[in-house]
Amino acid sequence: MPSSFSQPRPIFDIQHATLYRGERQVFFDLSLSLTVGVHSVILGPNGAGKSTLLKLFSMEIHPVPHDHTRLRLFGEEGWNVWELRRHLGVVSHDLQRHYLDNAQGTNVILSGYYSSVDTYEHQAFDDGQRMRAVQIMEDLGIGHLQDRRFGDMSTGEQRRFLLGRALVHDPEVLVFDEPTSGLDLQACFHYLAVLRRLMAQGKTIILVTHHVHEIPPDISRVILLKQGRIVADGSKEQLLTSSSLTALFEIPLQVIQANGWYQVLPDR
Ligand SMILES: Nc1ncnc2c1ncn2[C@@H]1O[C@H](COP(=O)(O)OP(=O)(O)OP(=O)(O)O)[C@@H](O)[C@H]1O
Ligand SMILES: [Mg+2]
Repeated sequence: MPSSFSQPRPIFDIQHATLYRGERQVFFDLSLSLTVGVHSVILGPNGAGKSTLLKLFSMEIHPVPHDHTRLRLFGEEGWNVWELRRHLGVVSHDLQRHYLDNAQGTNVILSGYYSSVDTYEHQAFDDGQRMRAVQIMEDLGIGHLQDRRFGDMSTGEQRRFLLGRALVHDPEVLVFDEPTSGLDLQACFHYLAVLRRLMAQGKTIILVTHHVHEIPPDISRVILLKQGRIVADGSKEQLLTSSSLTALFEIPLQVIQANGWYQVLPDR
């Protein structure tokens, strides 16, 4: 048996990264490692750097090069974005905002094969790819919307199409930025049920959010991010508490829990 058999496999391993968005330094000396099989949430207030971190995972932005800075994805350096998409699917709000209104449902799913926004004439799709797209739409309950324009879909429907787009490569890891924001209760719970089904199928889920209510019970690791710094890293039981979230969001809060789900109320 190989000695690495029981070793945790890293998804994302960054050491001592400094990162700018425009003129603004969002991270300084950031170190973080995420592991295949450990469903995790990165939780923090507006502006903490969550979406920036997600862009770092998906190689849309890069840290300032320094001798002591390391960035490995799945244990390796030097990925190209296209290859990475086969292992790591990303469903982000930026994509939902910038996706083309005119794209037809089926083509939104197919565009995942080329990591493009909509599909284009020079792109070829074989029967297997088309059949997989149909299957994904059926699985996500959006088959009836295959001909609808993206711009004519509801927010929840668009979100499911973008998840389908990320699923074409059957990646082992899926990263979500605020997966349920903007969704009504039915769409929210349906989407969370889909996430849980994906976890049950063996996908590792990484959530990036400021919404405590969208953290499924299956998520075990919590990373608290504030002003570009990881202020705590531990279990839900340790960190989804009234005192730690009061400190994180700088407002008196009360955390309640039922059936493995969490909610936050204003403290009395
Ligand atoms: N293109 C940019 N140019 C300059 N500053 C930026 C840029 N993009 C983001 N920032 C800044 O970087 C910081 C982190 O932004 P980021 O979007 O990562 O926060 P977030 O944690 O995702 O917040 P939210 O919960 O509101 O989504 C913020 O202060 C933001 O203003
Ligand atoms: Mg964000």
